[in-house]
Amino acid sequence: MRAVVQDRYGSADTLEVREVDPPVPAAGEVLVRVHAAALNAYDWHFLHGDPKIARLVMGLRAPKARIRGRDFAGRVETVGAGVEGLRPGDEVYGEADGAFAEFVCAAGDAVGPKPAGLSFEEAAAVPLAANTALIGLRDVAGVGAGRTVLVNGASGGVGTFAVQLAKAFGAEVTGVCSTRNVDLVRSLGADHVIDYTRQDFTRAGRRYEVVLDLVGNHSLGAFRRAVTPTGTLVLSGGGVFEGGSLVGPMGLFLKRRLVSPFVRQRLLELPARPSRANLATLRELVDSGKITPVVDRTYPLNEVPEAMRYLEVEHARAKVVVTV
Ligand SMILES: NC(=O)c1ccc[n+]([C@@H]2O[C@H](COP(=O)([O-])OP(=O)(O)OC[C@H]3O[C@@H](n4cnc5c(N)ncnc54)[C@H](OP(=O)(O)O)[C@@H]3O)[C@@H](O)[C@H]2O)c1
Repeated sequence: MRAVVQDRYGSADTLEVREVDPPVPAAGEVLVRVHAAALNAYDWHFLHGDPKIARLVMGLRAPKARIRGRDFAGRVETVGAGVEGLRPGDEVYGEADGAFAEFVCAAGDAVGPKPAGLSFEEAAAVPLAANTALIGLRDVAGVGAGRTVLVNGASGGVGTFAVQLAKAFGAEVTGVCSTRNVDLVRSLGADHVIDYTRQDFTRAGRRYEVVLDLVGNHSLGAFRRAVTPTGTLVLSGGGVFEGGSLVGPMGLFLKRRLVSPFVRQRLLELPARPSRANLATLRELVDSGKITPVVDRTYPLNEVPEAMRYLEVEHARAKVVVTV
């Protein structure tokens, strides 16, 4: 099968489209014929091996998982032993390493029926980003009706879902993005939009019950200034395009741990993990029209290196998708 393979850490030039053996599903896995995949900051971190400390897990000299890509939508080809509720031919979407390929093996719990009203391209844009936004707002922050929520990075892959989800939960939403994305974020339902090139929300004097950070571009103290005295700050580990870092978001996470026991604000981290239950929730939200993926550009599989360059250099808007 054709796949996008990475043999060393580096720029998008290290990605190669070549023929490799298709994966074989183990017990508890499904083999999916990929129709579309999507890019995420996750792929950027693996491409660069950034932050360097994460190489202890990703692979010291080169990534252990050689085929890039995480989000996919496609059709089930084979179902491994012990996987319930999926059959060959089912249209599915989900998360697994190695999605920039004609076939991918995914854990049964990280795959679910795709939203009926979406094309494969649109469906591939949903899993990782929307699941992160869902876990951050619903599970970590406990956002409900009437809460004031600020999303820092509202025009990105996670942020575009976060704005829509927070509105669906009944919150009053403020989105932070650059000038060219103000109209997009407003169109997603944000009640207020702050253009970060004109105003620094951490110095604007307004406080929010929940701040969801997807950028990591302020100090912990600055973020806390924008949170009410008993409000919640959720740190995702942002800082996508500042390559070459040793510890990346770990510095902010460490400060959070040190400060947390002494303050009334809830300072929390966002650990997003895929689950079939969340994929089902997201499917319902999509099919009922409450959330819609925003696709910026679509590239064919052999142009994934070009797609990565676009994501990296030009600040892609929301999602970049790959057709396979
Ligand atoms: N913890 C987890 O489990 C988890 C899961 C998924 C993602 N993440 C993290 O979440 C972050 C966001 O992911 P994503 O896929 O949404 O990334 P993305 O699509 O690249 O979005 C990045 C966002 O950051 C904004 N931005 C860039 N520079 C900025 C600046 N100087 N000031 C303010 N905003 C700025 C961009 O806005 P403009 O384009 O308008 O400038 C855009 O909205 C990443 O760091 C990723 O690693 C964490």
